[in-house]
Amino acid sequence: MALLEGRVALVTGAGSGIGEAIALAFAREGARLFLADISAERVAKIVDAVQALGAEAEGCTADVSQDGSVRAMVAGAERAFGRIDVVCNNAGILDRLMPAHDTTDELWDRVIGINLTGAFYVCRAVLPAMLERGIGNIINTHSISSFLGGRGGTAYTVSKHGILGLTRAIAATYGTRGIRCNGISPGSVQTNISTGDDWHEMGRALREKGLATRPERAVPDEIAPVAVFLASDMSRYVNGANIVADAGWTAY
Ligand SMILES: NC(=O)c1ccc[n+]([C@@H]2O[C@H](COP(=O)([O-])OP(=O)(O)OC[C@H]3O[C@@H](n4cnc5c(N)ncnc54)[C@H](O)[C@@H]3O)[C@@H](O)[C@H]2O)c1
Repeated sequence: MALLEGRVALVTGAGSGIGEAIALAFAREGARLFLADISAERVAKIVDAVQALGAEAEGCTADVSQDGSVRAMVAGAERAFGRIDVVCNNAGILDRLMPAHDTTDELWDRVIGINLTGAFYVCRAVLPAMLERGIGNIINTHSISSFLGGRGGTAYTVSKHGILGLTRAIAATYGTRGIRCNGISPGSVQTNISTGDDWHEMGRALREKGLATRPERAVPDEIAPVAVFLASDMSRYVNGANIVADAGWTAY
């Protein structure tokens, strides 16, 4: 039997990169998918791609940094499938590798708002029903910036340290109530998150220090199986974990 047979999964940022790969991998394992992204065009494309695999999929546009939008997304998923078993808090943006002294309020609020507050809003919206059912599974996309200081700008690094804290707080608080929460920390993955064209020179220099030890970049399909593992019962004893998927970059 497929690993996620019949399981209802909500994925944010599902229209590109890692979220897209997670959606397709979940579909291949029998999940029923509710796919959200801020881009309507990307939602339509990923819903079509998942349906083309023979899996059930619906979707909506949502901006995870807005509580009202998150609540509408969660209500939409519950309406479509009756419940949510697995949530992937994956939507995220980079911060142009901006150091603290050049970070504007606007950039700070946007990066923290999407990468950290967005994941919190989604957790807050799905937890009551999960608590009622006594079962739930939340998977957050962290980063190696969740535990290192020089791979993103200041706001990105803070947002990713924060989401690791969110993962641990939820795991510790709700673990005895049947809810698991884990995260994945990818290293460097080829996606649409940044071309690097707009990086701040200090951020770029800092990041380049790590290049000497950086393994070949991953493709999103190399990250998605970790999400499949976390979404499945194979990981039933795993809670509050941060699984690093970086080909050993941070082990060096
Ligand atoms: N690419 C990497 O090297 C890397 C490394 C570590 C962690 N990550 C994390 O992986 C996650 C996915 O990023 P990716 O690399 O696949 O990037 P991506 O840009 O390819 O995909 C991100 C998706 O999120 C969507 N999105 C952006 N803002 C949103 C919002 N407010 N509400 C809903 N959706 C929104 C985008 O439209 C896009 O489709 C992010 O959390 C990112 O921080 C990426």
